Amino acid sequence: MQLHINGTVHDVDVDPETPLLWVLRDVIGLTGTKYGCGIAQCGACTVHVDGYAMRSCQLAVGDVEGKITTIEGLGNPAALHAVQEAWIENQVAQCGYCQSGQIMQAASLLSENPDPSDEDINDAMYGNLCRCGTYPRIRKAVKDAAKKLAEA
Ligand code: FES
Ligand code: FES
Repeated sequence: MQLHINGTVHDVDVDPETPLLWVLRDVIGLTGTKYGCGIAQCGACTVHVDGYAMRSCQLAVGDVEGKITTIEGLGNPAALHAVQEAWIENQVAQCGYCQSGQIMQAASLLSENPDPSDEDINDAMYGNLCRCGTYPRIRKAVKDAAKKLAEA
């Protein structure tokens, strides 16, 4: 099957029931998306499909319709996404394991709601767990990213 990932078409020969996360990491080599729980309960594996946050550990690759974006394709070194810039400026990451999923969830939130309240942020991000407890910095970075996007 063909997958559109980060602006590139990939031909992959896999069982359609294979979770997208496995294909991204083990077949294509995009390891920025992380495996946490494997049961759609932690958010570490979050990617975008046509801009919407999806848990790739529970998404069969054969069911994917649309363009996939992973953390590697959200921005680039010359032009980071506003969420990535805000994450760096706020030094959000601690161990970092959950952070690509957090960033993808936050970017999806801001594409739907450009001026989220604390409650909106909590509602959108509650499924993305962080064992290091970076939640206050995440909330601040989402607000800073919203300002950056509004000014752009
Ligand atoms: S690894 Fe997919 S939600 Fe935890
Ligand atoms: S930064 Fe360590 S799990 Fe979130």
